[in-house]
Amino acid sequence: MTPSGVVSTFGARGRIVAIVPAMLGRFPVWFGTPELRSMSETVYISDLAAHVGEEVTVQGWLYNKRSSGKIAFLIVRDGTGIVQAVGSKGDVGDDLWGILEGLEYEASLRVTGSVRADERAPGGYELSIVGLELVGPSSEDYPIQLKEHGVDFLLEHRHLWLRAPRQVAIMRVRDEVTKAIRDFLYERGFVNVDTPILTGAIGESAGTLFETEYFDLGTAYLAQTGQLYNEAAAAALGRVYCFGPTFRAEKSKTRRHLTEFWMLEPEMAWCDSECNMEVQESLVGYIVGRALERCRADLVDVLERDVSRLEPVVPPFPRISYDQAVEKLQARGSSIEWGDDLGAEDETLIAEDHDRPVFICNYPKGAKAFYMKENPDDPRTVLCNDLIAPEGYGEIIGGSQREDDYDRLLSRIREEGLPEEAYGWYLDLRRFGTFPHSGFGLGLERTVAWICGVHHIRETIAFPRTLNRIYP
Ligand code: 4AD
Ligand code: MG
Repeated sequence: MTPSGVVSTFGARGRIVAIVPAMLGRFPVWFGTPELRSMSETVYISDLAAHVGEEVTVQGWLYNKRSSGKIAFLIVRDGTGIVQAVGSKGDVGDDLWGILEGLEYEASLRVTGSVRADERAPGGYELSIVGLELVGPSSEDYPIQLKEHGVDFLLEHRHLWLRAPRQVAIMRVRDEVTKAIRDFLYERGFVNVDTPILTGAIGESAGTLFETEYFDLGTAYLAQTGQLYNEAAAAALGRVYCFGPTFRAEKSKTRRHLTEFWMLEPEMAWCDSECNMEVQESLVGYIVGRALERCRADLVDVLERDVSRLEPVVPPFPRISYDQAVEKLQARGSSIEWGDDLGAEDETLIAEDHDRPVFICNYPKGAKAFYMKENPDDPRTVLCNDLIAPEGYGEIIGGSQREDDYDRLLSRIREEGLPEEAYGWYLDLRRFGTFPHSGFGLGLERTVAWICGVHHIRETIAFPRTLNRIYP
């Protein structure tokens, strides 16, 4: 039995051209027999393999469709996969056929059909349609079509662009990377300590702060890092980490920069610079291994990632000193001088020599943050490392041993012109049982971009914040 009023509305037009208010109240509407609807089990597309030969209901959105005039092919996606649903005019009856023909891209629907294995079908299974419930009709002006769009247009429609298979695959890899990070650290006894987003002390450098007024207390900053707080937590718990959004008012319009990005920051008591790098390389090797193991289809089939470039990513990673890096770069014609930080092109040049990420160690003091420990073997430099990913993805990790000497730390705070009074609590950590400790920050978006082989990191976060974008 079908609700005739609605059907005839559609039947006359042949397709849904507009959603008139009177129609809206009538959705969802079931086209098919009521008995069948109550009998069929609702399943995820990824679980169809277990239901071959059965009649099931899939709930999702219409990704694509074509019709020969006699047979309609609907490509339905539900977030777990895609499936082709097929209905022939002769079998489904006129009412349902009218609906199938009129469906617009991204209409939400429940489709009931019997499951068949079919190697040629996308996803490997097909549904022979026996019923369909149009839950939320879409409109023919759905902005994102199957053709190519410019990136500004796509970013403007990020809320819809996110539905595209490539974006879905990237989000899944990001999720796997996040879970792998947490598993790795949990298994090794790290405790997750969440650090504040609103902070009173400058964490990295004064140049890239987002400021906000904080009641009667003056200026607060959005956190550039959780590190300083987790140095305190490391003295309480030994091995800790924070993992959350961090903010940099960086005026860089590059493919590696966001103004809001997620950073993983482990902090370890009784760990020196060498120990710090060992944790970094085993973490990165583990993350890449997990993505290869659990996201292979997304990487290979959807993102067309050349995974042979990821397979060599196992520890140990090569280590070169900053001095060696500068020599290499100068020999290749770079204008870098000793004392300069490495630019993106310099990092790419260094990475070209290696099939896995490479550590560059012990940078000059002036190029790095105030909290890094002076190198006893060369006091012009600090005990730190950047980890440079292959294929031009640049620095994915910045890490260091922390300055644990009260006087040296205080003089670095003064040299950098930082407001001493804001660091009283941080200096306390050096007054009450100072201890050797190290940590690092891994940029989640850069890491995911590298693993996915995505050119610009803005595609690796659901709603990217960049210099010129805060919408949607
Ligand atoms: O090297 P950074 O600035 O290190 C810190 O913030 C330390 N406090 C971390 C620590 O030792 N706990 O940043 C760490 C990483 C970089 O290697 C990069 O991957 C990422 O964060 N990153 C950015 N990612 C996207 N957009 C930006 N604007 C980024 N700035 C840094
Ligand atoms: Mg850095």
